[in-house]
Amino acid sequence: MTQDQSNAMWGGRFAAGPDAIMEAINASISFDKRLAAQDIAGSRAHAAMLAATGILSDTDSRAIREGLLTVLSEIEGGRFAFSTALEDIHMNVEARLKEVIGEPAGRLHTARSRNDQVATDFRLWVRDQIDAAVAGLRALIAALLAQAEAGADWVMPGFTHLQTAQPVTWGHHMMAYVEMFARDMGRFADARVRMNECPLGAAALAGTSFPIDRHMTAEALGFDRPMANSLDAVSDRDFALEFLGAASICAMHLSRFAEELVIWSSAQFRFVTLSDRFSTGSSIMPQKKNPDAAELIRAKIGRIMGANVALMMVMKGLPLAYSKDMQEDKEQVFDAADNLMLALAAMEGMVRDMTANRPALAAAAASGFSTATDLADWLVRALGLPFREAHHVTGTLVALAERKGCDLPDLTLADMRSVHPGIRDEVFGVLGVHNSVASRVSYGGTAPDQVRAQVARWKERLG
Ligand code: ARG
Repeated sequence: MTQDQSNAMWGGRFAAGPDAIMEAINASISFDKRLAAQDIAGSRAHAAMLAATGILSDTDSRAIREGLLTVLSEIEGGRFAFSTALEDIHMNVEARLKEVIGEPAGRLHTARSRNDQVATDFRLWVRDQIDAAVAGLRALIAALLAQAEAGADWVMPGFTHLQTAQPVTWGHHMMAYVEMFARDMGRFADARVRMNECPLGAAALAGTSFPIDRHMTAEALGFDRPMANSLDAVSDRDFALEFLGAASICAMHLSRFAEELVIWSSAQFRFVTLSDRFSTGSSIMPQKKNPDAAELIRAKIGRIMGANVALMMVMKGLPLAYSKDMQEDKEQVFDAADNLMLALAAMEGMVRDMTANRPALAAAAASGFSTATDLADWLVRALGLPFREAHHVTGTLVALAERKGCDLPDLTLADMRSVHPGIRDEVFGVLGVHNSVASRVSYGGTAPDQVRAQVARWKERLG
């Protein structure tokens, strides 16, 4: 190979170009082209700053900034020929800029390095994803609030161990997820505050001897301030890990809810009907309507959490400052972000469109002796029994009902008195599921009024 074949950007000391395998393992352009808009925004801010500080002439700076807009429109219009030989998005853009504007293009890289450049691009990209995740969560929460408001007093079974435990309201169940997804929003917002500092100007690792103005570029790119340590600026990816951490927890919440939708939409439960728009059919069994979207959402945690673990492993042993290992950060985050946004949108659609099967919910709520706790509580309140004794009496009544093949409210007063002579007719007033949920008025409890108050509080908070 001749020197002509060595890299035009850094090949000065090289006599030969890279082996094909070297090029294949080294190049990131196949995926980091997704950073094009951020890369060009960063370069334009840098070029403007170089002119403002007198490092570059106004003429060169303007030519660079305008040329970069041309390159951007080529990329956005699908008219850009990406080159693997040029490794990554940074060098692809710069090489094309040189073709468009000539010699001034070579001055753009003054007082910066690809190390601070990529750290800046990636922060900008992750920041946009945080905003998209918050918007997706907001839409999902709105769909949940609509379900909760409609069904604030619809009864359904509440479960522990997936065994019928006590009746709850549909609205209460929906609002549990509102709380979880709102905390997810908070985690993304917290991460955004911490990550919103600008690495640009850290240069390769040590800063630069040029009189740059890092505050100017930070501000131009919407960052709160420049990062305070140049080694840290080019070498940490904790911001991406925080994004993946928040995404993993959010995906875990989505997965739990998806699992419930899979169970609820089964023929055995029939708690909900998912809309045709968010279900699929079977190619062999004509009767089937499958909850594929819920199943796929349930699975997304695998790749999202996987990305989190993978990037943590990439980073954990790296000495300061930049190492090429860090190029492996992007695909993980891209994939996790894409799948999180898709899962959020699909969940929002499913929740918006799903129909609760109220008769099935009510029938299930009343089954499985779900008001046994209400009976025990009544024995404590009305007869003054110690709770342990009330528990025992109720257990005996449950066994009696089981023997008779009926539910607790179907026992006669005589049945009840055979177990405890003090029981009075008014006990039947606490046994129905509607009485049960209406009585759970403690703060955060399942009573319809509590649910309505929580819906109102969240509507006000989210505007
Ligand atoms: N493509 C590289 C990455 O994503 C850009 C930074 C290259 N820096 C370097 N010193 N080789 O990490």
